Amino acid sequence: MKKVNFTETVLRDANQSLMATRLPYADYEKILSTMDKAGYYSVECWGGATFDSCLRYLGEDPWERLRGIRKNMPNTRLQMLLRGQNLLGYKHYHDDVVEKFVELSIKNGIDVIRIFDALNDFRNIQTALEATKKYANDRTVASGCISYTQSPVHTVEKYVEMCKELQRMGFDTICLKDMAGTMSPYEAEGLIKGIKDAVGDMPLILHTHCTTGMAYMTITKAIESGVDVIDTATSCFSNGTSQPATESIYYALKQYGIETGLDEAVINKVNDFFKPIKQSYIDAGTINPKSMGTDAQALVYKVPGGMLSNMIANLKDMNAMDKFDEALVEIPNVRKDLGYPPLVTPMSQMVGNQAVTNVLLGERYKQVSKEVKAYFNGEYGIAPAPVSKELQDKILGEGGQPVDCRIEDSKRTGKDFADAKAALGDLAKSEEDIMSYICYPQQAEKFLKDRKAKEENVVKYSIVEA
Ligand code: CO
Repeated sequence: MKKVNFTETVLRDANQSLMATRLPYADYEKILSTMDKAGYYSVECWGGATFDSCLRYLGEDPWERLRGIRKNMPNTRLQMLLRGQNLLGYKHYHDDVVEKFVELSIKNGIDVIRIFDALNDFRNIQTALEATKKYANDRTVASGCISYTQSPVHTVEKYVEMCKELQRMGFDTICLKDMAGTMSPYEAEGLIKGIKDAVGDMPLILHTHCTTGMAYMTITKAIESGVDVIDTATSCFSNGTSQPATESIYYALKQYGIETGLDEAVINKVNDFFKPIKQSYIDAGTINPKSMGTDAQALVYKVPGGMLSNMIANLKDMNAMDKFDEALVEIPNVRKDLGYPPLVTPMSQMVGNQAVTNVLLGERYKQVSKEVKAYFNGEYGIAPAPVSKELQDKILGEGGQPVDCRIEDSKRTGKDFADAKAALGDLAKSEEDIMSYICYPQQAEKFLKDRKAKEENVVKYSIVEA
């Protein structure tokens, strides 16, 4: 039987899903050289929220973290998650910034760049793809990623079309990203067979979460249907809102006679190492036990778990829990008016808040949030399906059309880097410092100032010593 490869997520997505990305590099440095021998297809270790968390909470230089991982894991592909033209945030960056970010990521050790856009507007991942190809070395992999969601317009045919487009664009692999963990085994089978038929031997990856309890069944079906790579987390950092467990799936596949390339002793050693670390974060309250359980509500209401709990919190704040059922019914209606965007950040908040507003005010779109206005204005990209004409007219004026301001904006070049360099002065010691500042100005500036103060202290101290 064919081989199924594993991407280990403990350093990024498991860390992000279970403990808000608060795992410091120092906690896991010692296990990296062991992980390097596990036989993973790749280790997802960077991007997503790790960059922000390093600067904002952990006082770590994200680039230094990446170089440390690279040094200790010379033989394993290192993987990052990149939100296309938004890089690691929600703002639309200019092309030159996106290109430089990708260049530096590869230079500092990244091999696999998984690139996605929340709306699957592939114009937003084009620049990052081109940059990946431009700065690629012989280990670089450009992975085109689809944000998976369910709606009347998100059919197997539509996903197959998306995959063909990613193939045409020149990506090396394709990833289906089920952030809400709502993909069922039946859906996985249809999708993966359909996609495999369409894209030939282009490697296909499934990324899902255990949130609703579906993931193990879905992954089993996905493997039967021909998926090439699956994302899993070492067992003590698995389940709940994280990925399914690496070792459990390894043992199941071993019985099926499916090759994994994993070293059983090593993957067990990895888990042994992380067990006490996890316990210490449970004891400290960093890991919320709620994130470790299963919540099937998302399957009942067809909205992701995080979105539902947000909505409940909002309604409770406003003493309006009696409107809960009405708001739940309104969510799919708002989503339809917006052309069925995938319910991920920032769309999940946008749709959820507008649905609550519509219900509380007793009139639909009496008040339209500035985010929804910006969305209709084209500032987030192209909607997956046509938006409500009536609502578009209301927001943009009769016959008004969205402007493609995001794409226009992205074409400007050169200025951000020069501005950031000037603003930082001698605080910046490298292009990486400047890039940190462009991505997260306040956090990076504080980090760089702290670093400078520390260095000055060291100098003072060594003078006294001399
Ligand atoms: Co994820």
